[in-house]
Amino acid sequence: MQPTAIDALLQETRTFPPSEAFRQQANINDPTIYERAAQDFVAFWAQQAEQLLEWFEPWQTPLEWQPPYAKWFVGGKLNACHNCVDRHVRTWRRNKAALIWEGEPGDTRVLTYGDLHREVQQFASALKSLGVRKGDRVCIYMPMIPEAVIAMLACARIGAPHSVVFGGFSAEALADRINDAQAKALVTADGGWRRGNIVPLKRNADDALRHTPSIETVIVYQRIGGDYTVNMQDGRDHWWHDLTRDAPLTCPPEPMDSEDLLYLLYTSGSTGKPKGIMHTTGGYMTGVTLTAKWVFDLKDEDIYWCTADVGWVTGHSYIVYGPLSNGATCILYEGAPDYPDRDRFWAIVEKYRATILYTAPTAIRAFMKWGEQYPQKHDLSSLRLLGSVGEPINPEAWMWYHEHIGGGRCPIVDTWWQTETGAIMITPLPGITTTKPGSATRPFPGIAAAILNDQGQPVDANHGGYLVITQPWPSMTRGLWGDPERFVQTYWSKFEGRYFTGDGARQDDDGYFWLLGRVDDVINVSGHRLSTMEVESALVDHPAVAEAAVIGIHHEIKGQGVAAFVIVKEGYTADEALQNTLKQHVAQKIGAIARPDQIIFTAELPKTRSGKIMRRLLRDIAEGRALGDTTTLADPAVVQALKEKYEGQEE
Ligand code: PRX
Repeated sequence: MQPTAIDALLQETRTFPPSEAFRQQANINDPTIYERAAQDFVAFWAQQAEQLLEWFEPWQTPLEWQPPYAKWFVGGKLNACHNCVDRHVRTWRRNKAALIWEGEPGDTRVLTYGDLHREVQQFASALKSLGVRKGDRVCIYMPMIPEAVIAMLACARIGAPHSVVFGGFSAEALADRINDAQAKALVTADGGWRRGNIVPLKRNADDALRHTPSIETVIVYQRIGGDYTVNMQDGRDHWWHDLTRDAPLTCPPEPMDSEDLLYLLYTSGSTGKPKGIMHTTGGYMTGVTLTAKWVFDLKDEDIYWCTADVGWVTGHSYIVYGPLSNGATCILYEGAPDYPDRDRFWAIVEKYRATILYTAPTAIRAFMKWGEQYPQKHDLSSLRLLGSVGEPINPEAWMWYHEHIGGGRCPIVDTWWQTETGAIMITPLPGITTTKPGSATRPFPGIAAAILNDQGQPVDANHGGYLVITQPWPSMTRGLWGDPERFVQTYWSKFEGRYFTGDGARQDDDGYFWLLGRVDDVINVSGHRLSTMEVESALVDHPAVAEAAVIGIHHEIKGQGVAAFVIVKEGYTADEALQNTLKQHVAQKIGAIARPDQIIFTAELPKTRSGKIMRRLLRDIAEGRALGDTTTLADPAVVQALKEKYEGQEE
């Protein structure tokens, strides 16, 4: 983030206390909860785990902490699917809607907890009949349909960790993730719908499956059908409907150890290779259940809508595990916010009388740009709470969300967290916290965060530094699949014994946290994490590219966009056609989210004498700032020439 933007944030003085009416009905409204949790954070979490979840067997020790490895609720046995489904069907919730699904072409479906219970068991039985056993990894590459949730819960039920791969990822990205996890089965669909087009999931999967020897079985849900045909390989590929038709209707949940792996989820880091974040059962379920209950103030009457895709951690924690564990009714939407028109979200809120909406700043900025006439066409009076996640929300977007979507009456929870943290970490509690537009406010009860300088010392108020988490928490990642060294190196070696988030932050005089964006080579495009090196590798894979350097640049809607400085090989012409080819190449290699916004051709890249590319200078160039310190450059003329050239291209 640029210094001017940070200064503007710190001048933000508007405050929004919870209304008395909201405060009174809130699930948590006692401000002493922070102190009480801090006095003994282990006891606090242990009490929550006991009250919020059903355990088959109690644990003996709440926490074993040998930095950086934590074990929570040691010896306890439970099942995540049992907690999300089975325990509700024993109550009146059996006939309560669990999922309200809105498919893009207008088809809809409502699944009660009873329906979910039946369908999950059938699919779990089908997985077992295909030889999937406890501990086997199952990759899920699905559109946003109820079967994506059913597949995840079925895996959890039989103790087979899932690895969901976002349906927008390419065949190559899918193959990399399957291979890293050594997944045994793949669950996919013939296709999904996006803006009236078919996303060819099975065809992508077929391309991936040529390079994934660990996959023995593929299960295909027929989402599109009709004339749209896909190739089914005999012996390997099975239709979901064939398998579940004859599958046993009951499949008891596997008692899992609290520390057994629940899932893997791949995310980008600062190197090219995505990392498989591991989450285990007891701690993760405790974290997501409590945060969903307190941060979203979830009640049985709520119609809760999180607009994320289940392919990201937000979908895992706040579409599936957190809300369902609380017995909530969740909307699941397959399509885009602007199809068939730009009022799609508001039409859905009105149609289902949604009470809670959780979305990303990038979407809010797009809505702002499209104009308030779209939300105004609809009755949004059912909404009572709004949430934001994925990237810093600028105060202007916060205010627009507050006024035009929340009608000035809904508390906004700006929730900071990460794939690695599993659950929300810094956030307002809507019945307690006075919010400030642009601030994620305070660590959740039982979470301790600090902002440190390079020497590991806490910085003063209003000074920027590195955001760290200073004590273990139940939903923390237990590590990176197959790469313990990288786990220690990435998160635990910068400041000993403390978890390094990779984000910069400041605290104001009231102790409120203001997130300032990533401090590593990760960029955040529309709330999605991308590694600059991943995009660079995709670029140099093209025969025309000799070398590439990728940076994140400020983008009005997406928060950050991707800019690539590219050196072209001898014999290729650096022209607009090549720019388009390279953009397309990256989209094909990784997925559309990684498509560069700008390709800048250059003869050389600014490097230090030891050969390291100076991205800081590239950022200065791309964002039109005066160049910072260039004394460490091997050849300062390179960067000057590049700056002039870039400014020429921009005009
Ligand atoms: O930089 C922070 C940003 O998103 C990163 C985590 O990305 P991911 O693991 O994909 O998870 C996204 C959804 C939880 C963080 O390191 N981030 C997330 N939420 C916020 C945020 N930055 C500022 N404010 C937030 N509320």
